[in-house]
Amino acid sequence: MDMLDIMLSRRSIRKYKDEPVCPEKLRAVLDAALSSATGRGKRPWEIIVIQDKETLKKLALCRQGAGRLLAEAPVGIVVIGDSELSDTWIEDCSIVMTNLHLSAHAMGLGSCWIQGRNRFGEDGRTSDENARDLLGYPENYKLLAFLSLGVPAEEKPAYTREELHHEKIREEKF
Ligand SMILES: Cc1cc2nc3c(=O)[nH]c(=O)nc-3n(C[C@H](O)[C@H](O)[C@H](O)COP(=O)(O)O)c2cc1C
Repeated sequence: MDMLDIMLSRRSIRKYKDEPVCPEKLRAVLDAALSSATGRGKRPWEIIVIQDKETLKKLALCRQGAGRLLAEAPVGIVVIGDSELSDTWIEDCSIVMTNLHLSAHAMGLGSCWIQGRNRFGEDGRTSDENARDLLGYPENYKLLAFLSLGVPAEEKPAYTREELHHEKIREEKF
């Protein structure tokens, strides 16, 4: 698939087969994320990859609701950013998330972005506090998001042109 096909057929996949992700595919996905554009080249992100079942179950509790996806996926990825290193850490980490999500699809994997920033755990604490306790990252790093990742167990169709609401593009008339 070329890049445009990948972008046009991308969907959030929330059901995964009970099988591991091939290490070469996971490596390719991480390489794509690490190649992300970043404000002033600061690369303020860290990407934490979790495949241990017990840790994934604990990670799921960091975020109420959608966090459960992490307990059901063979891989959970946590993207954190150093808020002291760069004032574009949110944008930078969001690009990393996008590249993880798109490159996963390119590798035939399915993934879903799970909001972490400004969200709460089952216990009412912030997802950031919970994830920091579990994973031990320092205070200057903040949680941006989680990504659940696995071999897809559901298929979703690409959006049609009509569904994509092309009226969202405003062309200025000069
Ligand atoms: C910033 C952001 C946060 C998201 N957070 C969640 C989330 O917490 N839980 C979830 O199930 N999906 C989440 N998603 C996925 C969206 O729900 C999904 O992209 C949207 O419903 C459109 O579906 P599609 O990705 O299949 O086109 C998030 C996506 C983005 C970009």
